[in-house]
Amino acid sequence: MNMAFYDRVSAELADIDAQGLTKPERVIASRQGPVISVNGRDVLNFCANNYLGLAGDERVVQAGIKAQEKWGAGTASVRFICGTLEIHKELERAIADYLGFEDAILFAAAFDANGGIFEPLFGAEDAIVSDSLNHASIIDGVRLSKAQRYRFANSDMADLEAKLKEARAAGARNIIIATDGAFSMDGYIGKIDQIRALADQYEALIMVDDCHATGFLGPKGKGSFAHCGVEVDFVTGTFGKALGGAMGGFICARKNVVELLKQRARPYLFSNALAPAVCGSSLEAIRIASGEEGDKLRTQLFANAARFRSAMAEAGFDLLPGEHPIIPVMLGDAKLAQDMAARLLELGVYVIGFSFPVVPRGQARIRTQMSAAHTFEQIDAAVAAFTQAGKELGVI
Ligand SMILES: Cc1ncc(COP(=O)(O)O)c(C=O)c1O
Repeated sequence: MNMAFYDRVSAELADIDAQGLTKPERVIASRQGPVISVNGRDVLNFCANNYLGLAGDERVVQAGIKAQEKWGAGTASVRFICGTLEIHKELERAIADYLGFEDAILFAAAFDANGGIFEPLFGAEDAIVSDSLNHASIIDGVRLSKAQRYRFANSDMADLEAKLKEARAAGARNIIIATDGAFSMDGYIGKIDQIRALADQYEALIMVDDCHATGFLGPKGKGSFAHCGVEVDFVTGTFGKALGGAMGGFICARKNVVELLKQRARPYLFSNALAPAVCGSSLEAIRIASGEEGDKLRTQLFANAARFRSAMAEAGFDLLPGEHPIIPVMLGDAKLAQDMAARLLELGVYVIGFSFPVVPRGQARIRTQMSAAHTFEQIDAAVAAFTQAGKELGVI
């Protein structure tokens, strides 16, 4: 037995803990929602990506059960062998139509969509120009491609232009700009309209990861690109957040791109088809999000976000600015963020402290997330708890 290896693992864990960077997993004993059961008591939940409040919605749950009853637990196969069910085709059509694209391809997760999109489409003659704050899965996906890599400072259009010039000067065949539609740790919305203008100028393609936008940003919740009033070439997204909260990812694109990805994208070719229950729940979530009820949910979501933002700013907290329902409360120190989250749980509010390596060192924070399912009373109760904990811990 190589005990030295196991000793090194234990030492690394102890080191993470000593730095206050351990991320504990708290076990939830109820459905996802604005109120959840933790440690035997009900607490207000302000850290789920449950933007439209559909994760625990009875219609979404029942649609999943119905799909599972009809199609079974799953396909026991990847899509191209014997794993394509009618419900997979239905979900691909539904998400493509909803977001306004010719076609879509499903993945087990958006992590896989981002991991699988670059390598088949871009080779050594091409260039990928990626925002420095892009999600880890985009970074991994870019690494898997042989394309030349360029990185621009977060949402810095001058730097993006400089990198586009560099890539053109180096003779790139195709250039693709890759960006999050909304940056998940900051709640900043991507400047997709300005990126569009630069892409047109330098003949580049645009890929947007809209995991934190699909379902609620822009008209009908079509996403960040619709919010900015422009079109893009590829959108990657998830069914694991606003669209029901189950799991599963997708890429929306032109038909021939989807066809090629179905031939070449490794996480698609070598991984099981999405479970029918997930497809059923996601279809119902798309139906709700794309209709009039979706409009009402989006109005409620942004009213909740505005109420929380203004009350927290008034109370003296340092918030990152913006309009997105992700509202980071900046604390700086990792240990302070953990202590604050622990105290808030005692006060009946479930939130999580984020620290390195999820955010840069020294920028620890509590990332609060609003949901359309929150009531104003719940928002006000959360602000009151933050204010009490913030005073006790010397934050405000
Ligand atoms: C911006 C972004 N992209 C991709 C993902 C991965 O999504 P999924 O959970 O579907 O793999 C996430 C989830 O954390 C995300 O925030």
